[in-house]
Amino acid sequence: MKIALFFLSIVGIVFSGCKSDKLTMATAANFAPFEYISGGEFQGIDIDVAKIIASELGKELVIYDMEFDSVVQSVASKNADIALSGLTINKTRKQVIDFSDTYFNAAQMLIIKENDERFKNLKTKEDVIKAVNKAKSLKIGVQAGTTGEFYSKGDKDWGFDGFKNAETISFANGAMAVTAMLNNQLDVVIIDEMPARVLTKTNSGVELVDIALTDEEYAIAVSKGNEELLNKINEILRTIKQDGRMQDIINKYYVQQK
Ligand code: ARG
Repeated sequence: MKIALFFLSIVGIVFSGCKSDKLTMATAANFAPFEYISGGEFQGIDIDVAKIIASELGKELVIYDMEFDSVVQSVASKNADIALSGLTINKTRKQVIDFSDTYFNAAQMLIIKENDERFKNLKTKEDVIKAVNKAKSLKIGVQAGTTGEFYSKGDKDWGFDGFKNAETISFANGAMAVTAMLNNQLDVVIIDEMPARVLTKTNSGVELVDIALTDEEYAIAVSKGNEELLNKINEILRTIKQDGRMQDIINKYYVQQK
């Protein structure tokens, strides 16, 4: 009897060692409406989606908040099970992590100072690029480690060589870049569309150039080869897209332009 109990507890320890009751998630909670902190709580589209995933998996969601440029690495090194962080699928990231199916389409956009004549009456992506290239010694603020930074500096993935005559300056988050622009340290900010809408709505003195510069897809990251988790996540994403829960979450956080 004692021996049997001994073996049972060993099995129990081994079992609990590999099957955790927690789902750990890496994010950078400085990216409203996808992830941000409000009233001391994590909120946003990604947070709500992650809560559903955790509950479907019967696990407790544990969120690790970090700088955005550590998010992918933390899943790659298995310090977190998943990452939801408005994370755009790209080739470089695919080398170190696996992506789920996509759950949101995004694009980089320009935030400018209100009434900046250099960026008036633009209609197409080409117009925006021309206007940026035409301006002299333009300073562009971006969030460090993001596709916005890669785009601004020039990125093969977008087939875009980067802006001419412009300097790209990286910030820890979009809000800091907007503040720097309002303090005349920057001319424009490039960031993902939905965060750009939030930032232009919550800051006076800035406006959005409502033209998509890139074509991006957000997805959830899991560590390489973790097919079991990836399949389950894709199944949950499929379900919540079909039953309307995904759209409800997006609507809940959707921000109209000012
Ligand atoms: N979509 C961009 C990227 O993947 C920006 C994401 C920033 N996310 C954040 N939580 N700060 O690079």
